[in-house]
Amino acid sequence: MLRRIVLVVVLASLASSAQALDGDSVAGKNIFQRICQNCHSAEIGINKVGPSLWNIVGRQPAAVPDYAYSEGMKRNNAPWTTAALDAYIADPRGDVHGVKMYFKGLADAKERADVVAYLSTLK
Ligand code: HEC
Repeated sequence: MLRRIVLVVVLASLASSAQALDGDSVAGKNIFQRICQNCHSAEIGINKVGPSLWNIVGRQPAAVPDYAYSEGMKRNNAPWTTAALDAYIADPRGDVHGVKMYFKGLADAKERADVVAYLSTLK
């Protein structure tokens, strides 16, 4: 009996952690507007303090024309997969990416998944 309860608890927590990786693009849009939009536009061709994030998922880093990226970002050759975006947003000032994005990052994995889900809609 106890073993069964333990199993149910483990399965329930697995289910909720799996769910946390499934981003909700509507919630993500909200987070984007609240946080990212201070520095980023979701529209093509509009750069603010940061480059436009239109069509970001799948593209090469530092690919927006007319935007002055940091040397660190220009050296970053790995395409912006959803996993790469997740890692960057978690710690934008980490070693891999240079230091130009003065943003402390989103610590909450669910919020990051939501934002990345929203970014995936910008096509
Ligand atoms: C305080 C301003 C600021 C905030 C807030 C901010 N960013 Fe940025 N972001 C920047 C700057 C500046 C760059 C350029 C970085 C570089 O060149 O090193 C950048 C770069 C990026 C890039 C790389 C773009 C490319 O073309 O390769 C992504 C992706 C990104 N930001 C996502 C986000 C997301 C998602 C959020 C919200 C969770 C966010 N940023 C919040 C300023 C900001």
